[in-house]
Amino acid sequence: MSEDPGFIHCEKGVCAMLKRRQFMQGAAAATALTATPYLTAHALGPNRYELIAAPGAQRIGGADQVPTDLLLYNSQSPGPLLTGRKSEMLEVAFTNKLDMPTTIHWHGIRNLNEMDGVPDLTQAAVEPGESFTYRFPLKDAGTFWYHAHNMAWQQVARGLYGGLVVYDDDVAADAADDITLIADDWRLDADYAIDEASLGSLHDWSHAGRLGNWLTINGMSQPEISLPADGQVRLRLVNAANARPLYFALDAEGDGDFTVIAVDAAPCAPFRAKMLTLAPAQRIDVLIDAAKARGLNEVTSQQPVRAARFTKDTAASGTPHLPSVEPWYPRPDTTAAKVIDIHMQGGAMGNLATAEFEGEEKSLRELATDHGKVWAFNGIVGGYDHILADLALGDVAVLRIWNDSRWQHAMHLHGHHFWVQSREFGETPRWLLRDTYLMQPDEKAELIFIADNPGMWLCHCHMLEHHAAGMGGVIAIA
Ligand code: C2O
Ligand code: CU
Repeated sequence: MSEDPGFIHCEKGVCAMLKRRQFMQGAAAATALTATPYLTAHALGPNRYELIAAPGAQRIGGADQVPTDLLLYNSQSPGPLLTGRKSEMLEVAFTNKLDMPTTIHWHGIRNLNEMDGVPDLTQAAVEPGESFTYRFPLKDAGTFWYHAHNMAWQQVARGLYGGLVVYDDDVAADAADDITLIADDWRLDADYAIDEASLGSLHDWSHAGRLGNWLTINGMSQPEISLPADGQVRLRLVNAANARPLYFALDAEGDGDFTVIAVDAAPCAPFRAKMLTLAPAQRIDVLIDAAKARGLNEVTSQQPVRAARFTKDTAASGTPHLPSVEPWYPRPDTTAAKVIDIHMQGGAMGNLATAEFEGEEKSLRELATDHGKVWAFNGIVGGYDHILADLALGDVAVLRIWNDSRWQHAMHLHGHHFWVQSREFGETPRWLLRDTYLMQPDEKAELIFIADNPGMWLCHCHMLEHHAAGMGGVIAIA
């Protein structure tokens, strides 16, 4: 926490990318792990699970590398893939065996407020040794994920997250043509240990967040994923990284297009894409041609990094279930909408001079050095007591956000999906219903939603260091 954000000059992400590239090359000799597709949890009963958070170790560096000390759910990262069926209840008996308080947030679930897992806002944090049972209805089908929401910048960085897939009533839960791939971007030192020194770095908090140097899929380095020999496969991609947007392309025979069928769990009118932008916390469901696909590449840098290799199961032919293309709810008419302006400022090379923190106006230098805060919404450093808006149940609301900073931000609203004219898939904006939206520097976006879920809902940047450093507030719906 030593660097003054006023004196930082570094091209966005470049230093980290260079380190990452060296790292990837240095490890090129690591043997690939043959992975069974991400295993589902042993269920206590239909839609009932037990999750235990505890320290543990896992070979995320590769099968022949030393294990990395992490924080794990049920001794694995990602934690077990939880599955359920739409319209049913999900129950998770959770026990905290960490030495610090934690909670679980069910990202993207239009949840009951008291099950949303935000400490000090929707529940008391689960203290070490304590348990808490999460029990909530699965209102929507799709690809979700769960993650720790207390000091998430640390707990998620150390491995506390997992997948949650809700199926339509009529789909088999373990189909070979329906594969969940959870990507993460770890920051490791040369011994494959979590780079401790960078946790809490004010440089990262005021720049692009804590960018990693080691890519895993389902907790493994360059795993082999078995696909059916032909037909189609549905890939459910999740970005569990603290801060790095990931960009995926197919290594395939032919055009290598993905067909996008859902974003952030919500089905969309299918469209084709050569490259997928996946910001932290976002999900994209795609169909690919199994026979032609050789692997999945991460293409942030000029030289693609292999994320996963595909092998073929000659016995199988893929015919994944396709979701309906009907959105969960149509884009509402906004003529009478309540407009909530959110002016995002701060970070390195930004224009935030002073902001209010705990009722006092302070200079950015003071905020940074004394409190580790560098971001503000509407001139106020965010916290769980920063109410951005009071809405009545049923209101149509527009979050009119202006990213007046030099950095990308992945804006997430709890408890709701919003309509947004997305600029994440090329030049032509595309209306999408989603729960996390990647905003570019200077972009102005309108997130449109119906405030149909009562409670106190967090709205924050999902670059977890940005949230910790002040990018958050609460939408109250009564
Ligand atoms: Cu995944 Cu507060 O979020
Ligand atoms: Cu941000």
